[in-house]
This record gives sequence, C-alpha cells and structure tokens, in this order.
Amino acid sequence: MNMRVPQLRFEPADELAALCKAGGDPLRLNVLRALSNDSFGVLELAQIFAIGQSGMSHHLKVLAQAKLVATRREGNAIFYRRAFADNKRFGGRLHSALLDEVDALALPAEVQARIAAVHAQRASASQEFFARMADNFQAQQDLIAGLPQYRDSVLAVLDTLGFAASASVIEVGPGDGGFLPELASRFSQVTALDNSQAMLEIARQTCDKSSLSNVQLVLADALNDSYPSADCLVLNMVLHHFAAPAEALKQLAARVNPGGSLLVTELCSHNQSWARQACGDLWLGFEQDDLAHWAIAAGLTPGESLYVGLRNGFQIQVRHFAKPDEYTGFRANFRPQPISPTGIN
Ligand SMILES: C[S@@+](CC[C@H](N)C(=O)[O-])C[C@H]1O[C@@H](n2cnc3c(N)ncnc32)[C@H](O)[C@@H]1O
Repeated sequence: MNMRVPQLRFEPADELAALCKAGGDPLRLNVLRALSNDSFGVLELAQIFAIGQSGMSHHLKVLAQAKLVATRREGNAIFYRRAFADNKRFGGRLHSALLDEVDALALPAEVQARIAAVHAQRASASQEFFARMADNFQAQQDLIAGLPQYRDSVLAVLDTLGFAASASVIEVGPGDGGFLPELASRFSQVTALDNSQAMLEIARQTCDKSSLSNVQLVLADALNDSYPSADCLVLNMVLHHFAAPAEALKQLAARVNPGGSLLVTELCSHNQSWARQACGDLWLGFEQDDLAHWAIAAGLTPGESLYVGLRNGFQIQVRHFAKPDEYTGFRANFRPQPISPTGIN
C-alpha cells in the first residue's frame, strides 16, 4: 500500500536550532562580544583569539548560518560584524536577548590586549600614510572624492541646524584645511584638530591665506588626547581612517555639548580595495545602517542625511547626528528626515 508521509515543516525549528547551536560555545560567544562594536577579518579574529585560521573560519561559518554575523567583502578580505537582531523575524527575540547577555561578558584581558594590538596596527598604518602623503594630499584625495564634491552637501546639512553665531565647532582631521573658511564664517570659535604635523602645516597655510583669525590649529589625536568639547563636531572623510570606527563615534560623541551635533561625511560602502594603498583607507566606506547603529549606541539621534553620487561610481553620505539636550531630551531645531538620495555630482 502506498502510504503518504505527512510533510513536516522543519524550517523555523531549524533556524532556532542553528541559533542555539551557534550560541552554545564559549568561544563563539566571545567572538560575538568582540564584534559588539567592531568588525574584524578572519585573520584578525584568529590572532585575537589565538587559534588557527581554519578553526576560526569554522566558528564564523556556524555564526553566519545562524544569522548572528554578517559578512562584508573588503577587497580580498572578508570582514565580519554582528548581524542586527530583527524582532519581527522568527527567533529575532532570542537573537536580541542573546546579544544583550553577550554584551555583559567581560572579554579576557589577553583578548582585550590583542584587540588593542590590532587597532594599533590599523592606526599606525593610517598615520604613516598621512605623514608620507602630505605633499601629495590633493591628488590622493581626488582619486576618490575631493572637498569640492561634498562641500555644498555638508553645508546644506550644516545650515539647517541653525547654530547661533556664538557656537563653537571642532573639525577633526581638517586635511589641507579647505573646509575651515566655511566653518570660520559660521562659528565664533573653530578648533582644527589633526594628529599629523605635516597635514596641520598645510592647514595653517590655508588659514593664513584666508586670514582666518578664529581658527585654532591643534596637533592632537582625536581619540586619545584630551581637548574641550564643542557645540558641533565635523568629521569629513576621516572615519574610514580610524582603527575602530564604532568606538571612535562614541568617543567623539562625548566631545559634543548636549544639544549639539556630530556631522559625518563618509564614503558609502564600496569594493575598491586599491583605496587602501592609494588613499590610506582602513575601511572601504560604511553601510548606512552601521553608521546609524553606532551613532545610536553612542547616545546620538540620527537626523538629516544627504547622499551624493559621484561620476566615478563612489557614493558619499552626509549624516547628521544630534546629541540630545540633557534637559529637553532633544534639540529644538532638530527635525528627523527620511533618508533621501540626491543627484549625481
Ligand atoms: C582623508 S583626510 C580628510 C581631510 C579633510 N577633512 C577633507 O575632507 O578633505 C583625513 C585627515 O584625518 C587626519 N586624521 C586621521 N586620524 C586622525 C586622528 N586619530 N586624530 C586626528 N586626525 C586624524 C589625517 O591626518 C588627515 O588630515
């Protein structure tokens, strides 16, 4: 007799099982912890957790199958970051609860030391690049996008924020100082902060040429040195040179006065790995959602955004993040806007 076997649907249970399996290993939980606000390549993770590359690849595959990590190709390397939990998806609440618990884990001291070593390798590569390339700065910048291609968009966002003439601003990484005249005419006090003596010298020449009297040039590392906070902090094409961008946003958010703004201009995620050598980029742009998540984790509120498509195929994002006022919880002139693409520049 031909018996029909009832069809059992295993898919949702399979998904939950994959999630439980991925979470059922202390090393994988620690990998998720390490990825809480950073992304690493498989070689970096193998170095951080002091295991072989193939062992680490296996663990990452299990995490990827459970949709706990997402991958991103950076040239020839694949970078892993935590996938965002989607509470509307089956298993999403378990995913979210697992990440909450993971965040309470303290990584072993030796793992933290090896993460710091990876960050230091990235940071020194970036600093060496600007020390070497200062004389050729404009040509290097123009390989992807120069200030003329995003200046108007940054100003369009900045000018909607309605800063009082008495407000202060910090530009981190002013490069050759091309944006400083715009800031000097809008703010009472401008601090231009760069960790490259050579770049700062070029910025000084720009200030002298434009007779800017309210710009203070400061040789300092934006993340490791101390400096006073300001009402607005501008970061044009700098984040992709930072070793740990999510952590960097947290530190920079702390330098913005309550009720103030962090303005970030960045490349959107791309796959042109030559930019690492040619332009000293540590990251090949950023996903729009990643920037928003990192900013929210830094206590900021995403606001206006502009997107600029360039003829060479790159895309630029100009993002405003507001720091809530301690008393009112938001700034009076802050109007959240949907993300909208702009035309080709
Ligand atoms: C690609 S340039 C951007 C220049 C300029 N903002 C523009 O849009 O043309 C990056 C600048 O950031 C500076 N920089 C990189 N890391 C830094 C850090 N940790 N602290 C301060 N400045 C940094 C570099 O020296 C360089 O001047």
